[in-house]
Amino acid sequence: MKQIRTWLLGLALAALLVPSAAFAADIKIGFLVKQPEEPWFQVEWKFADKAGEELGFDVIKIGVPDGEKTLNAIDNLAAAGAQGFVICTPDVRLGPGIMAKARANGLKVITVDDRFVAADGSYMEEVPYIGMSAEKIGRQMGEALFTEMKNRGWNMDDVSVMMTTFEELDTTRERTDGAIAQLTEMGFPADRIYKAPIQQRMEIPTALDAANTLLTRHPNVKYWLVGGPNDNSVLGAVRALEGWGIAVDSAIAVGINGTDCIGELEKANPTSFYGSILGLAGVEGYESSKIMYYWIKDGKEPPLDTRTVGRLITRENFRQVLQEEGMD
Ligand code: GLA
Repeated sequence: MKQIRTWLLGLALAALLVPSAAFAADIKIGFLVKQPEEPWFQVEWKFADKAGEELGFDVIKIGVPDGEKTLNAIDNLAAAGAQGFVICTPDVRLGPGIMAKARANGLKVITVDDRFVAADGSYMEEVPYIGMSAEKIGRQMGEALFTEMKNRGWNMDDVSVMMTTFEELDTTRERTDGAIAQLTEMGFPADRIYKAPIQQRMEIPTALDAANTLLTRHPNVKYWLVGGPNDNSVLGAVRALEGWGIAVDSAIAVGINGTDCIGELEKANPTSFYGSILGLAGVEGYESSKIMYYWIKDGKEPPLDTRTVGRLITRENFRQVLQEEGMD
């Protein structure tokens, strides 16, 4: 009796295992992101999964907030049978270490959003990269701020710019540099553009701290234009302005990403967050995984540098734009 039961159990187990083994995707790719709580990266994951479903591969999604977790994740991916991974690293200087670890495990690598840098500070151009046209998107933010200032008829003498910055990371430095260049080229006085450097990670609380420090130094500004490297960096500054009791219609804030500010744009009562330059997180997630898949499957070498564009969204048009971009 005991024997029969064991045999039956074996049969049941086999029935469970065989079909899944037979249908399991042969190709598995990892998708590692530095801030899995940020909607930008959730959108990338969602579209990576979409590519996997359409083309027939598995996506193993792992949050990697620090270097140790990143290196462990690479070992785990290899153990799980992955052949490559897409990554937005928590620190671009980990690039050489990540590449060494990937090579040791026989894994292919594509970077997304944040580009690896070598020990001498130069980009690791040999590693395929997909990310924003950072300067251009920054310029769009600067232009949106300047144009809305004009629309409101503010006297420019009464206006200052608060630019939250994260200059340790090249892509985010290029965005805020682009915004500042655009504002000055459009005629905004450079000496009233103030930077508020964010410490460590771009999150709402760290941006709020950076903005508070700046507001302490400039308590008498009548109107503010607010920009920054991404939505959370700008939302933190908006919260700081609110904390200082600055009226909603005395500030115009524009972010970048467009994914992390939807709740803000949906608020029944407008805040000073005017809009954002929507980036193509979905395209980046989909394309990076697709390119990785064909690299593994057919040996098709990926392009080394692919850039994505942005588009202004505001309370008025965000629903429609998200729909047009397939991101709603
Ligand atoms: C960086 C930022 C993200 C997002 C991406 C876009 O990784 O941290 O918020 O802006 O760039 O490429």
